[in-house]
Amino acid sequence: MKARLDKILADSGLGTRSSVRDLIKSGTVKVNGISEKDPGKKVDTDMDEIIVRGELIDFRDKVYYMLNKPAGVITATEDKKQTTVIDLIKDKKRRDLFPVGRLDKDTVGLLLITNDGDLAHRLLAPGKHVKKTYLVRVDGIITDEIKSGIEKGVDIGDEKLTAPAELREIKLLEDADVTAAGEHAADGVSEAKITITEGRYHEIKRMFEAFGLNVIYLKRLSMGGLKLDPDLQEGQWKILSEEEIVLLSKESSEA
Ligand code: URA
Repeated sequence: MKARLDKILADSGLGTRSSVRDLIKSGTVKVNGISEKDPGKKVDTDMDEIIVRGELIDFRDKVYYMLNKPAGVITATEDKKQTTVIDLIKDKKRRDLFPVGRLDKDTVGLLLITNDGDLAHRLLAPGKHVKKTYLVRVDGIITDEIKSGIEKGVDIGDEKLTAPAELREIKLLEDADVTAAGEHAADGVSEAKITITEGRYHEIKRMFEAFGLNVIYLKRLSMGGLKLDPDLQEGQWKILSEEEIVLLSKESSEA
């Protein structure tokens, strides 16, 4: 890929666009061994070698991080008041990172952070149907009727029903207070794994709300064939390997 020298250096985290321009003009940047003073010089990121103050710049085009998102952090690139998921990637060398898709502030778990717009588009475009599996806890009982409703598609107030989702490993975590009529009651907490293929706003919360159940905990476990690394504590991240990135576009295995 060819790009302006000042853009490449700013994206690599060396400074703002204007500070890297000053750096280039001062003659401290070498391209293929020759001092380059033109910030607009087109550089080929696949072929050319850039050295700044004796250090080789790692401008690998694409970077991919897996974050175990903690609660209380917003899925955005920057915010004046609140901590964002990008703020958590402390060693970032690049300024062009963004989260792929969105988890609610109180949702935890797998979030992919990258600068690869094509991959994000491939994963998020409507109709792509990348499977996303979550562990969900709700305040109440997930009855057979709710399970089959969610598996068929739910009216959550949008134009269309939600796409059919999978619901499995349903467990009751506390003694539930089932009414005589067999209706769910507020006292029990149920847990399940749910797999959805869309990414509508508050989708899972709204699916359960349609049946009168409140989601009290939501954790994303997998995206496509990529699973949340169990060694990552909430707030921790790791750089993904090439093999793991390929998994994203694969069919999901059981999360
Ligand atoms: N569905 C939700 O309701 N919230 C999320 O964060 C993700 C899916």
